[in-house]
Amino acid sequence: MIQNQWYGILDADEVKVGKLTGVTRCDEKLVLWRKKDGSIACIADKCCHRGASLCKGELQGDKVACPFHGFVHDASGKVVLIPANGKNTPVSDRYKVKSFTVVEKYGVIWLWYGDPAAEKPDIPFFMELTQKFVYSQFKEVWPVHYTRAVENQLDVVHLPFVHADSIGRGNRTLVHGPVVTWDEQRMTFYVHNVVDDGETKPMKADEMPDYLKYFSLQFQMPNLWQNRISDQVRIVAIFAPIDQENTMIYLRFYQSFMPVWGMRHLVGFFANLANRRVLHQDRAVVVTQRPIKSELTMGENLIPGDAPILNFRRRRAELKGEFKGRIK
Ligand code: FES
Ligand SMILES: [Fe+2]
Repeated sequence: MIQNQWYGILDADEVKVGKLTGVTRCDEKLVLWRKKDGSIACIADKCCHRGASLCKGELQGDKVACPFHGFVHDASGKVVLIPANGKNTPVSDRYKVKSFTVVEKYGVIWLWYGDPAAEKPDIPFFMELTQKFVYSQFKEVWPVHYTRAVENQLDVVHLPFVHADSIGRGNRTLVHGPVVTWDEQRMTFYVHNVVDDGETKPMKADEMPDYLKYFSLQFQMPNLWQNRISDQVRIVAIFAPIDQENTMIYLRFYQSFMPVWGMRHLVGFFANLANRRVLHQDRAVVVTQRPIKSELTMGENLIPGDAPILNFRRRRAELKGEFKGRIK
C-alpha cells in the first residue's frame, strides 16, 4: 500500500441505507454505513472492548452498537455509551477505534489511506466518463496482491498468448514501443503490436514520433485503469486491495452510444459476459505468478515491451519513498 493516496475500495451501491457493511480493504477490517446526511462513515471493524466485529451489530442512527456488550461507537470511532456502566456515566476517550476518511464519488467509495491530516488531492478519476457515459459492472476476487492484478492490465505483450481466441486474435506477437507518457500520477501508454514477419525489427519508443495514432490505455495511481477502446466505449477497472494476498476487481463497461434504459442494460449485460471471459483468461495465468506481489527489485527479467509495468513499479516505489531515480 502507498501512503497518502485515495484508493477506490467499493462500489457505492455496496453501502446501503440502514445497513452495516463489513469488508476488508487495504489490509484493514472496516465497517461502513450511510449516515443520515448521506455521507459515508467508516471505522475499524473491531470493537475496542473485546474485539467483536461491529458489522454484526446494530445501526442506531449515525452510530453503531456492538453485538457483544452493546458499546455504542459514533462515526469518529469514539464510544459514546457503555450500557453496563449506565447512561449517566461519561465514557473515557480511551474507548475508541480508528476511523477512516471515505468519500463517495463517481459511483465509487474512496478511502484515504495514510495520514488523516495530510493535504488531500482531488479524487482521481477519468473525468470524461462523468459526461454522457453509462456503465455496467461486475466484480470478482483474485488471490493475488493488487500489484499483480494491475500489472496484468499494463501488459501489452501477453495478448496473443493469453487471449489468442479473443482480444489477442491475429498472432500480433511483435511489440513496437510501447510509448509511455505521464501526466501527474496518470500514465498513458500507446500500443502497436504487429505480426512478426521475421524481418521487422521492433521500434523503440523514441522511434515512434506518431505514437498518438495508436491504441492507448491509462493507469491512474494507485489503483485505477482505463482501456480506451473508442470515443464511446471504455473499460475501467478498480483494483481494490483486500489484503496482501487478495484483490477485489471491479470491472466497468462504460459506453455513450446507447442511452436508452432497457437497451443499455442489454448492451451492458453482453459486454460484461465478454469482459468476464477475457478477465478469466488473464486470471488463469496471473494466479500462477510468484511471488504474488510485485516489487521494483525482484529478479524478474523484463523486456522493452514491459515498459508500462516497469513505469508502474518505479512510480509506486517513488511514492513509497523507495526510489529516487528518473521516471521514464
Ligand atoms: S466486544 Fe464489543 S461491547 Fe464487548
Ligand atoms: Fe489480458
